Amino acid sequence: MAGNASEKWQGGLRGWIDARFPLSSMWNDHLAKYYAPKNFNFWYFFGSLALLVLVLQIVTGIWLTMNYKPDAALAFNSVEYIMRDVNWGWLIRYMHSTGASAFFIVVYLHMFRGLIYGSFKKPRELIWIFGMIIYVVLMAEAFMGYLLPWGQMSYWGAQVIINLFGAIPGIGETVAIWIRGDYVVADATLNRFFAFHVVAVPIVLLALVVLHILALHEVGSNNPDGIEIKKNKGPDGNPIDGIPFHPYYTVKDIVGVIVFLIFFSIVVFFMPEMGGYFIEANNFVPADSLKTPVHIAPLWYFTPFYAILRAVPSIGGSSFPGVLAMALAILVLFFLPWLDRSPVKSIRYRGNLYKAWLAAFVISFFILGWLGMEAPTELYTLISRICTAIYFAFFLFMPFYTRMDKTKPVPDRVTS
Ligand code: HEM
Repeated sequence: MAGNASEKWQGGLRGWIDARFPLSSMWNDHLAKYYAPKNFNFWYFFGSLALLVLVLQIVTGIWLTMNYKPDAALAFNSVEYIMRDVNWGWLIRYMHSTGASAFFIVVYLHMFRGLIYGSFKKPRELIWIFGMIIYVVLMAEAFMGYLLPWGQMSYWGAQVIINLFGAIPGIGETVAIWIRGDYVVADATLNRFFAFHVVAVPIVLLALVVLHILALHEVGSNNPDGIEIKKNKGPDGNPIDGIPFHPYYTVKDIVGVIVFLIFFSIVVFFMPEMGGYFIEANNFVPADSLKTPVHIAPLWYFTPFYAILRAVPSIGGSSFPGVLAMALAILVLFFLPWLDRSPVKSIRYRGNLYKAWLAAFVISFFILGWLGMEAPTELYTLISRICTAIYFAFFLFMPFYTRMDKTKPVPDRVTS
């Protein structure tokens, strides 16, 4: 009886809504009848974790905004006020600062999954492109957010990065002034960065994530075997190697969420600065436009690109070649779907050439990340030049080594 009553109610209310809004069809298309490959592994946790961190950042950001003051004279103290006087303010702030680094950890692992399973290859080029736009927008979001506490590193980091635009021949200085709204980083810069960080960029990010997932659901998920499960359909028209996303993967993703939150909480409660990697010591000192810190370095997630910038020698005193190399290092990732000519997607069926190049790329990326944090010496500059060369070689030679590589036969059905 109770079942009948609830069915009636559901049918009634759901029916009423369905006649006016595609609620059930959206639920079915994207969850209950979205068939995902049954062989997802560890690497498939990071998309849903990126979604989780995005929501965490938006929610903690809204609460921070309630007490933060986007004014050069008040900003630093308003953050101290949040940390000391606002109830649970310290928790909200540490969740947000840890969330920023967690976002990049999760997104880098998510991108790496794309590299090992060839998830960027046809027909998923647009998923990858939307992902890359998300990545660039996320970098802008983190960069602008870092100015807001108005500490020494916020100030001088922004100064250094905006000055890079000044290196563009001809229009550079005008562009830099246009970004800052002043001749140096100042109150006007803080105000506009605040507006972008809390309103404009999050809206763009949310919209891009919707496009990213719509594109994914149009073609279907890739998987660790790199097989198109839609090619093998059962009598019911559903992929034989697929299972409905809900409840199977909603439940699996909750496991990922719990494990993630355990690590996240350990950092938030016990090591929020993470030894200077997540919050730099110098940022507990208020911004001082008259006192340049001896060593200026961005947070860890930007340092591979910062190292590439410093690795390229300047010409005639202009750092433009370095700026160009840094921009190209990011731009080249957009072209991955067309650079990779391998007939197989997953690393499981690729040959040793791709594996060796990928390993060299990842090692160089880590070394560059480390070098970007260190003060440059002659030896470090030499190493960063070698790693920069490997970084670009990975992409430039890709059309050749992926074609020459000895691939293994791909099975028809997914392996478990
Ligand atoms: C806010 C950031 C992001 C969010 C919330 C997000 C979300 C997701 C989700 C939920 C999935 C499906 C689950 C999964 O396959 O793990 C996915 C798949 C995918 N994402 Fe992202 N993503 C983000 C950033 C990126 C970036 C930066 C890239 C690459 C540049 C990227 C590339 C991909 C690819 C290629 C797939 C398909 C993977 C496959 O089917 O094997 N995503 N994303």
